[in-house]
Amino acid sequence: MRSLASSFAAFIALAASVPSALAQLPNVPPGVIATGTQGPTNPPQPTLGTAINQTSYARLLSVNSIDDFCIFAPPTQSAIADSETIEVAWCTKQRNNARVIPDGTITGVSFLKNDYYVQLIGYGDFTQLNIPFGDYGGELDPHGAYGSGNPIGGNVTSNISGGDVPYAEWMLYIDYNQFCLRVCTNANSTYSAASMCWHELDEMGCEFVMPGNYNVNGTFESCDADVAYPPGWYPTATVDGTTQFSEFAQRYTGTLSDGSVYTVGDLATPAAPYFTPSSSNCVTTSTIANNIALASLGVTGAPANSGPVASGPTRSGATSGSKPTSAGTTGSTGTPNANSAIGVKGNFGLIALTVMAGYLFH
Ligand SMILES: *[C@@H]1O[C@H](CO)[C@@H](O)[C@H](O)[C@H]1NC(C)=O
Ligand SMILES: *[C@@H]1O[C@H](CO)[C@@H](O)[C@H](O)[C@H]1NC(C)=O
Ligand SMILES: *[C@@H]1O[C@H](CO)[C@@H](O)[C@H](O)[C@H]1NC(C)=O
Ligand SMILES: *[C@@H]1O[C@H](CO)[C@@H](O)[C@H](O)[C@H]1NC(C)=O
Ligand SMILES: *[C@@H]1O[C@H](CO)[C@@H](O)[C@H](O)[C@H]1NC(C)=O
Repeated sequence: MRSLASSFAAFIALAASVPSALAQLPNVPPGVIATGTQGPTNPPQPTLGTAINQTSYARLLSVNSIDDFCIFAPPTQSAIADSETIEVAWCTKQRNNARVIPDGTITGVSFLKNDYYVQLIGYGDFTQLNIPFGDYGGELDPHGAYGSGNPIGGNVTSNISGGDVPYAEWMLYIDYNQFCLRVCTNANSTYSAASMCWHELDEMGCEFVMPGNYNVNGTFESCDADVAYPPGWYPTATVDGTTQFSEFAQRYTGTLSDGSVYTVGDLATPAAPYFTPSSSNCVTTSTIANNIALASLGVTGAPANSGPVASGPTRSGATSGSKPTSAGTTGSTGTPNANSAIGVKGNFGLIALTVMAGYLFH
């Protein structure tokens, strides 16, 4: 049995080894900060300056700034839909034992922050990150079919509150030439972190789920932004000074284990979110780079950006600061793009006709 003095010394040593970030956990409502353990392939905490390892299976994203962020992409050449559970972290810097994104891969980014989330809108040549040219892409989040995330063991931090904080709710849409990523860093009694990072609108696309300035291919901007309504929320009325909302649910037909078929969700799909939040205080830079030699990242031959040019429709996108538009009329939609999971879906009016979720339990 150890003496009290040595136990105390051990305690002091342990306390000193706790990362300073833990001392700075922001005072936010339950459901915002992740309380569980790190995925098994992740370092215990986000770490800058880790060794280059382009075969890493680390799955820890940090989303800190326009030039210090990570995204999930396949470990080897694979469509996102076929690799959701095994995506790995790719970071702009050497960090988190993760893979490094080669310079030239990313061609434009908008980094937004506000009191409720940090958000990235990005363009690039993600064939460099093992996504096949033309891949429709998909949606990743900490829930997934097994409840342990897509990818399984994937985790996300941000230092936006002043220290590295693990966040419970996030969502990433990525295809071969675009991504959008939101990490929900706060909540109040109206907006939970889960609602602000709502993960069941996977067919609606970036511009619907994470409205912002999509006209950023070729520029790099870092801005403050107004707070969007949670994905799919539309204000309906104000009662005693409190805004009431309807919530759009994506239509889904599934089959129960007994073979019976059920359908949930709304019949009509809205064309656009209620409004596109304004950005402000934007700082623009011409590019982001880590200046790591491409050869040491396993990139041979031509630089990332001189490869085949994406031929898909360009997104005219929302300009930041557009005025509120009423649901389902006009608005801040991008070009409808049937070839991409992350493009905005077509033009339907918003009709709040919900098929009863009770079907599920028949
Ligand atoms: C890591 O992700 C899993 C699955 O989403 C979650 O249960 C756990 O709390 C996360 N841990 C941290 C430290 O973020
Ligand atoms: C690179 O990552 C792989 C998979 O995570 C691991 O097995 C390997 O040991 C790592 N290599 C180095 C040099 O750290
Ligand atoms: C977050 O980390 C970056 C290093 O990538 C650092 O430059 C920045 O100051 C940090 N931000 C905060 C708010 O601590
Ligand atoms: C929660 O925050 C949003 C955005 O700032 C605000 O509109 C809403 O009124 C807040 N809810 C409460 C209950 O304070
Ligand atoms: C973004 O810009 C790059 C470089 O000009 C171009 O190759 C690519 O097709 C553009 N991406 C999209 C989605 O328009």
